[in-house]
Amino acid sequence: MNLADRSDASAAGVVQHVALNIRRIGRVAGAEIPGLDLSKPFGDDVRDAILAALNEHHVLSFPDQNLTDEEQTAFTMRFGEIEGHVAHDHDGKPFPVVHVVSNLDPSGKPTATPRSHGNYFWHSDKSYHDIPSLATILYAIEVPPYGGATQFANMQMAYDELLPEMKEIIEGLNVVHSWEQSRRNSMNKPATQEQIDARPPVTHPIVRTHPDTGKKGVYIGVHASHIDGMEWHEGREILYRLTDLVTQPRFIYTHEWKKNELVMWDNRCLMHRATGDFPQDVYPRVLHRTVIRGTKPY
Ligand SMILES: [Fe+2]
Repeated sequence: MNLADRSDASAAGVVQHVALNIRRIGRVAGAEIPGLDLSKPFGDDVRDAILAALNEHHVLSFPDQNLTDEEQTAFTMRFGEIEGHVAHDHDGKPFPVVHVVSNLDPSGKPTATPRSHGNYFWHSDKSYHDIPSLATILYAIEVPPYGGATQFANMQMAYDELLPEMKEIIEGLNVVHSWEQSRRNSMNKPATQEQIDARPPVTHPIVRTHPDTGKKGVYIGVHASHIDGMEWHEGREILYRLTDLVTQPRFIYTHEWKKNELVMWDNRCLMHRATGDFPQDVYPRVLHRTVIRGTKPY
């Protein structure tokens, strides 16, 4: 079925895309694709259908998976180059390409003291890179019985609904994104000199064009430091105001995790954050994360 023919069938609930069943699960983003075993190889037609669904729905959930790290890596690499990570684990070593996102302390017990607060702030993954990530993939190993959702804000929808006055203010502006400033913005321990040297500040347009669909979306988040060429506080004021506007509840999809699901989202048109709204010292929340490298924003 052609994507352009989708709307009528979508209202009926289930649509075939080549080999895929796609069920919309959110108004601003989100679709579930049951019936695919991601541990098995699949053809380019299925990969292309997944990418088309990602461009349309931005957040894809593949329920009932059973994946090793190697299988998750192989799935990730079907969509591009896999990313390393700048952050460090408890023991100070860089994360491997499949790294564990969890609330477990070094002894494996749930803890309410997170290793980093950065995930609780709206962001687009790795926007502090000159070439940020295309998509992030999380595979749910353990999830709490309630809470612990991830929220996604649709930056294209939010951009479309900005008042013309605000669009005029931000037109043509560029934002400096910085790992060092991100650590300050999120009340984390300061970045190490080694991290600062490895991740110098980069500049991206404040309004980003999606390379596949041509749609425009706001591109900011906790890694944003200031507006290039503008007085610091004036730029920060615009970033705060814009963040409030684009993260209104009507632009947000909240994803409640299910054990054994794999979720893939498009960092080119979404911001996201973890909610942390469960007793973190009681229930484990463990997800395996991989990231696909993207292209330079424009
Ligand atoms: Fe993230």
